[in-house]
This record gives sequence, C-alpha cells and structure tokens, in this order.
Amino acid sequence: MQKGDTSWFVHDRFGLFIHWGLYALPARHEWVKNYERMTDEEYQRYFERFDPDLYNPDEWAAAAANAGMKYFVVTTKHHEGFCLWDSKLTDYKATNTPAKRDLLKPMVEAFRRRGLRVGFYYSLLDWHHPHFIIDKLHPLRDHPDRAKLNRGRDQRKYAAYLYGQTRELLTQFGKIDILWFDFSYPGEDGKGRDDWQSLKLLKLVRKLQPHIILDDRLDLMDVPGAWDVKTPEQVQPRSWPVVDGKPVVWEACQTFSGSWGYHRDEMTWRSVDELVRTLIDCVSKGGNLLLNVGPTGRGEFDERALSRLAGIGEWMKRHNRAIYGCTQAPPEFPCPQDCRLTYNPQTNRIYVHIFAWPYKHLHLDGAFADRVAYAQLLHDASEVKMGMDAWHASQLGGSERTLTLTLPAVRPTVTVPVVELFLK
Ligand code: GLC
Repeated sequence: MQKGDTSWFVHDRFGLFIHWGLYALPARHEWVKNYERMTDEEYQRYFERFDPDLYNPDEWAAAAANAGMKYFVVTTKHHEGFCLWDSKLTDYKATNTPAKRDLLKPMVEAFRRRGLRVGFYYSLLDWHHPHFIIDKLHPLRDHPDRAKLNRGRDQRKYAAYLYGQTRELLTQFGKIDILWFDFSYPGEDGKGRDDWQSLKLLKLVRKLQPHIILDDRLDLMDVPGAWDVKTPEQVQPRSWPVVDGKPVVWEACQTFSGSWGYHRDEMTWRSVDELVRTLIDCVSKGGNLLLNVGPTGRGEFDERALSRLAGIGEWMKRHNRAIYGCTQAPPEFPCPQDCRLTYNPQTNRIYVHIFAWPYKHLHLDGAFADRVAYAQLLHDASEVKMGMDAWHASQLGGSERTLTLTLPAVRPTVTVPVVELFLK
C-alpha cells in the first residue's frame, strides 16, 4: 500500500502536541476516569461544566510558532470519548457543553494561518461509547456487574462509529497532514486490529487523504505501507530506531512533566535547557520531537508551558538551522565528547551542539580534519579558530587526524551553544 508523504516532516522536525478535553477540569491526568474508576454519571460533572471562556486558538498558534514548531497534533477525541468537534455521530461533544461551539475548527484555522501543518490525534479507546466492550483498561473493569454491562455491547458497532468519525475528521477540515490513532493493546482482555477493524480504517484513510502521515498504533506493524512513523513516547531512543534492519521515520512524543492533560499539582516540570537538549537529541538520531501542552479548562496554556515555549523559541531563533533540514551526521564524523551532532545534507554543514563546555579545546576525530573548511559559533557567527598551537598539542600527543577547535574561555550564555562547521 502507498505510504504517506513524510518529506516535509523529516525537514520540519519539531511539533506541538495538544491534549485537551474534559480531563482539563479534574486537572489530575487525562486518565483520571480510568485511574479513579469513574462511571459515566460521575464523569458527567465535567461535561456539564466545560466552559473554556478564555480560549483563543490564535494565542496557542502564536506560542507554537514562536517556539519554532512547524506542525501540531491535537486530541480530537481522547480515551474519555469526548469530541472537540461537532460530530454528527454523537452528542458527547463540545457543542453540547457550556462551550456551545465546535472547538476544533477555529484551532485548525488559527494554526494554518501561522503556517503550521495540521495533525489529528484520535483515540481508538473510548470509555464513554455504549458499545465499547469493557476490558482491562476500562474505568469499569472492576465493576461487580461488568459481565452484565458487557452483554448488550457490540464492538462491531463501535468500530463502525470509529470509521464514521474518522471519515468526518478527514472530510470536514481540509487537508490533514498527520493522523495519530492511539492505541492498540492486543491480547488477553485487550484490543487490537480486529476490534478496530484496522485494515478497513487504513484503506479509508489512504483513500481520503493519500499524502497523510499515519502513526504506528493501529496494530498493523507487520502490514507493508500501514504506517509511516514510529512513535516512542516518554522515552528517548539510544540510536536511530530500526525496523526490519532499516532506519525508519520516527518521532518522540514527550511531556513537560508526566501528564499529557493539564495537571495542576504536578511540579516536576523539565527546564528549557532539558527540553532543548531533547529536541537536539531527537534530530541527532534522525528523528522529530512532538512536545506536549495540556491547556487548562479555561482554554489557556498555563504560565509554566508558556515560559518554556518562549525559552525554546529564544534558542530556536538563533539555532533553528541546526534543526530544520537536519539529520544524523554520517558515520565518518564521530560525535565528540559531551556533544550531539546534527547535519544538513543540503547545505553540507555539521552542527556541534556542546552540552558541556570544555576547557578551551574541542577535539574532533575522524573525517573532520580533512573536511572542515570553516567554523563559527552559530548564535553570533563569530569565527572559531581551527587547529591548536604546537605547544598545547605537544602536551596531548594527539593524533594528527584530529581537528581541534579553540573555543572562548567563557561559555556563551545561550541555552546550548552550537558550532557550525562548513564542510568542503
Ligand atoms: C498514551 C496514553 C495517552 C497519551 C498518548 C500520547 O498512549 O494513553 O494518554 O495520549 O500516549 O502518546
């Protein structure tokens, strides 16, 4: 089967994930309904009070664009089953809450206006739909009447709903660049390709939007052409991920802290420094980063998210050419100590991201010695001298094939300093 178009994706490298739904109100994880084993009746209190009166998607799009993000992926429906758009197939949607409007359409428009590409996350799980069979991940898994509750349920009917909603999402919002189904857990008391009717879904998606980039969570990993991007979450790969012996297109999705949905009391937020390094780490292994924000129930990015996006944007403003269009460096350029390398094959430049500032000299082994024509610090285009004087070199006894850069004594104050190497 025809694959989606990932050519723009491997260039753009950096996107915004948005997890927004009713769970923004309890504000204690998007799995709260599951964790606290809530019934639909109990969860209804959030539906009745969902009123994002401060929602201004243009502000969201501006924050993402200023951070250097080039695309976004939003939860059109998460596991709780609540839909942000005016779906004709359910009443469980934003238009029936105090929000009283389709929240998805203006978001899509606002991000497009800023030049960002559009991705839809859609949950395969649905903890609200009456035909979704209660399984080991369902909020009612331990309910004493579980078997009885399941008696009237017909998973086929749910699969038809899933199919119909996918069709809505891919026909009512113009060109969609990414579709992010989430997720499969086949086996004992779980769900997989038969429960979702994944092959049928796949055909529909490829027919309606042939260029679309599809993630890898439909439980079709072994079907050729059934997925375009591998999606490790909450973990950084140690090297470029490989499937069947070949490196694949991949994207890590990561949170500021731990929760994807807005979590008021979670205080373990990563710093700008750590987040920038994570982005660099992805690109240095040929991948993308999809960084998540969980907006509040009032409809805003909270101050912690905004300050981090702004900090990342400060760095991106001066260093984005070490990210866009870049990938892993060729093997003849080994990564020096305490660094990451990214490489732009079009402009033929290598970027040395220096995670720990060395004492005066940075030593580059391998092909660097023969191939580098010029070096500069990227943030201010100030020349970095190549080579080392004989007296320093004599004390190291280094190999002749080492290119040594002489760095300023004081580390530049940017989040991660980068040396740009122009190759011959
Ligand atoms: C998971 C979680 C979920 C989150 C997603 C993002 O599978 O269930 O809450 O949306 O990962 O990758």
